[in-house]
Amino acid sequence: MHPIRIAPSLLAADFARLADEVRSVEQGSADWLHLDVMDGHFVPNLTFGPVVTAAIAKVATRPLDVHLMITDPWRYADAFLDAGAAWLTFHVEVEGHGDVPGLLRHIRTRGAKAGLSLQPDTPAARLAPYLAELDLVLVMSVFAGFGGQKFMPEVLPKVAELRRLGFAGEVSMDGGIGAGTIAASAAAGTNVFVAGTAVFGAQDRAARIAELRALAAAAR
Ligand code: DX5
Ligand code: ZN
Repeated sequence: MHPIRIAPSLLAADFARLADEVRSVEQGSADWLHLDVMDGHFVPNLTFGPVVTAAIAKVATRPLDVHLMITDPWRYADAFLDAGAAWLTFHVEVEGHGDVPGLLRHIRTRGAKAGLSLQPDTPAARLAPYLAELDLVLVMSVFAGFGGQKFMPEVLPKVAELRRLGFAGEVSMDGGIGAGTIAASAAAGTNVFVAGTAVFGAQDRAARIAELRALAAAAR
């Protein structure tokens, strides 16, 4: 079994105090830092790019888990790898825009881990042609674009479906993960838990991360 990893999403952090926010979740034993990159095209929202990612990398001590919600990851992957992405994930829904296996192999050649993400209405089978090139699958449990949305339990069977298709890598879930939903996600087979609001909305981030980790561990 892959290790449980709690990955706070900085989308819910105070962007005017990013270094402090990173420190607070690292001191709270976050395993990874999840960075949500949005281009205003693949999703209706805009966040940040390689410059801010590099600034976070300078103060971070945990791996950066970069989630590209962008239409053209081929154009920007190297910039995020140069900026310090340890895990780089893009969306399978952009597959018509370029060579997906080629980009996955490129990410790995550069020494990072490669991931693909599924929107809630994209079936797991869409990943079948790419599974051999993948280190991680990011199952969205809300539609990409905004933090603070409600968890969609109907995506849970996708984790078992990925295993049936032969995927043995890490499975991450993103969107609406918190104390009330993480057990169901862990029971379904998820090992990486992205949590924005649940972690950064807590006064005591360390306590919240510990609570999430314990709930996930008990449910596996
Ligand atoms: C949504 C992002 C998520 C988001 C999760 O598009 O990919 O990472 O920040 O936020 P919460 O945990 O608040 O749902
Ligand atoms: Zn995300």
